[in-house]
Amino acid sequence: MAHFTKATSIKDWLNQRLAIDKVEKVMASEYWIPKNINFLWAMGMVLVITFVLLLVSGIFLLMYYQPNVDLAFDSVNYTIMREVDFGWLWRHVHGVAASVVFLIIYIHMFTGIYYGSYKKGREMIWLSGMLLFVAFSAEAFSGYMLPWGQMSYWAGMVITNLFSGGSLHADGLVEWIRGDYVPAQAFLDRFFMLHVVLVPLAIIGLIGLHFGALRIPHVNNQDGEEFDFDAESKKYLDGDKAGAKVIRFANDFMAKDMMVVGIYLVFFFYLVFFHYDFAMDPVNFDPADGLKTPTHIYPEWYFLWSYEILRPFSTNVGLIAFAFAQVIFVMLPFLDRSPNAVPASRRGLFKYWFWAMLIDMIILTSMGKVPPVEPFGSIGFYAALTFIGLWIILPFITKMEKKV
Ligand code: HEM
Repeated sequence: MAHFTKATSIKDWLNQRLAIDKVEKVMASEYWIPKNINFLWAMGMVLVITFVLLLVSGIFLLMYYQPNVDLAFDSVNYTIMREVDFGWLWRHVHGVAASVVFLIIYIHMFTGIYYGSYKKGREMIWLSGMLLFVAFSAEAFSGYMLPWGQMSYWAGMVITNLFSGGSLHADGLVEWIRGDYVPAQAFLDRFFMLHVVLVPLAIIGLIGLHFGALRIPHVNNQDGEEFDFDAESKKYLDGDKAGAKVIRFANDFMAKDMMVVGIYLVFFFYLVFFHYDFAMDPVNFDPADGLKTPTHIYPEWYFLWSYEILRPFSTNVGLIAFAFAQVIFVMLPFLDRSPNAVPASRRGLFKYWFWAMLIDMIILTSMGKVPPVEPFGSIGFYAALTFIGLWIILPFITKMEKKV
């Protein structure tokens, strides 16, 4: 057994048993962050804070929510919104956070793409990030089922139908997923379990993996500069703080992170108090009715781009295109063949690829919301083809890129 001495303080007692000083060093005071990064690198912390807001507000909502097809709608729209003190506030925080988290995830992802932060030893950061994206999508979709409104029901119907695989007619699989022929009590029960237990646990584990993956390669920087973190941190610890290219995560960098988080929270609570409706579909304020199909069924804004890749094609082609869109971002570190981990602006054709992809996804998102009438149907169709085309050409244009 290790050698224990009489503790001189509570901290010393804990230190001997849990090595808290060492943990603090590894996680904070000797976790080195490059100086040359901008506010976009605070998005990771903004995501952590938003996830905490989701967890805390979710726990309060869980105290009154009823996972029962006859009671769910009223437990949300009547009990929580009208009867429980500040129930409306927790619901608005939860709804706004669920929507805004995707906006931040997309900014975080595109920052990574722009600066090439998925390359050269950072592949695991990217892969764990993509798993987080999938887990957040599952969390958002399962949560959307819970108020048991018209959009919950019909979006549940449409999305689970996709598992029939078009002309494969895997109807048994769809029934197995639903636990019934149509979305009903078994469906609500399992999505409730996924939303409050399984997926949040997976997210917590994945955040741990994502942070772990950041430790060895460290975060990238805005100049694509490669430097020796050991040498730079030694400089810092030896007193040359101005000359060193790195700073401590805590408390130095965290102060910057917190300033961005502060500005974000002002924007966040502005939405909570004055524009919470942007995160709530009016159709979902009607209780679920299996006999009344809404005229236009569409997902929440953050899924619209992939929905628009499904919609303009025939069923089978659409399903293949949709599956392609779901997995292709995962492949990015392996499809980008260039050795350059520098900002897109300093790379060959990739700089056009980046902006084309971003604009194309914005077009797909706008087209996904409108009914597929002309000219929107054609615009959506060509935008979907462009999305697929851009991914096909990526390995070729990056292979041709000269080393910077
Ligand atoms: C939703 C939960 C997520 C959380 C809490 C999270 C958190 C973080 C944090 C704290 C950092 C370090 C600081 C920063 O660069 O912002 C980071 C870096 C990174 N994340 Fe995430 N992230 C999440 C999702 C994602 C997703 C969906 C992706 C995309 C696939 C992703 C890709 C990356 C990359 C590539 C880096 C490295 C950035 C660099 O080296 O400069 N993350 N993440």
